[in-house]
Amino acid sequence: MLEVRDVNAQYETRYGAPNWTVRNVSFDLAPGQVLGIAGESGCGKSTLAAVLSSNAAPSLNIMSGTLKMEDKPLLNLSEHRGVPPDWRGTIVSLLPQRALNALNPTSRISSFVTDVVMEHANGVTKSQALDQAASRLMELGLPTDVLNAYPHQLSGGMRQRVVTVISTLLNPDLLIADEPTSALDVSSQKALILLLKQMMNEKLISRTIFISHDLALLSNIATHLAIMYQGEIVETGPVESVVRSPQHEYTQKLLNSLLEPTTEARERVLRTHRGITQEAAR
Ligand SMILES: Nc1ncnc2c1ncn2[C@@H]1O[C@H](COP(=O)(O)OP(=O)(O)O)[C@@H](O)[C@H]1O
Ligand SMILES: [Mg+2]
Repeated sequence: MLEVRDVNAQYETRYGAPNWTVRNVSFDLAPGQVLGIAGESGCGKSTLAAVLSSNAAPSLNIMSGTLKMEDKPLLNLSEHRGVPPDWRGTIVSLLPQRALNALNPTSRISSFVTDVVMEHANGVTKSQALDQAASRLMELGLPTDVLNAYPHQLSGGMRQRVVTVISTLLNPDLLIADEPTSALDVSSQKALILLLKQMMNEKLISRTIFISHDLALLSNIATHLAIMYQGEIVETGPVESVVRSPQHEYTQKLLNSLLEPTTEARERVLRTHRGITQEAAR
């Protein structure tokens, strides 16, 4: 089990007392589980991700919180400003919100691989790191020649899949994916979700926290849901029970915003579409 308890964190600001950004957050996550964290923009999802992955901004104060990962000793998150840096990549891997833009445009994907692997794994040579990346890509059905490409030569969807594979090359116990699909078109979103499912099935990653404001997408990948509102997890449980019988008012509002389009709305879309098609045919 991964056990996270009582995380409280706030940003220091120049103007008066800061608000709590992450409040009393606790949850458990067993191997094989995917925890979907949903909540509107600004509710503290990325801040929580930063705390759990040792990527806290200098102005973020972690007031309290512990993390227990299986056989590892209990970690005091305020002491380490998150998890210890040597956990990054091997025990916890963060796929940050803007991963797609994080790739250096002047470097080939292969140099990203060697950076990730050689920084975190001792005594691995460049060619071993590249071999490892190539065989992982092959195992997951992705082309290996992407390693020689520059980021701009890959589509957004392919770039995101490659970044995901490389960030998890060292088989982390926990992958934290922060809105990994928000910049992708629908078919690339699907491909990334399939890839993550495959990596979970093959136990390349033990467990995942998947952050998104998109509940429909989360119900497709997550086993459990945590609904975050103003820094707090207001509701959590297996996906089906949260979706079927939401207890908190905010969860109900989130779910209501997802209702199927009415027949009338569907008709309107069809009419418009027909209109455009006829226009184009003229
Ligand atoms: N570096 C920062 N300094 C000060 N406040 C920040 C910083 N980053 C985020 N915040 C604030 O913390 C709150 C939570 O932000 P964030 O964790 O990014 O939310 P989410 O990922 O859910 O959109 C927001 O009110 C945001 O404005
Ligand atoms: Mg965010």
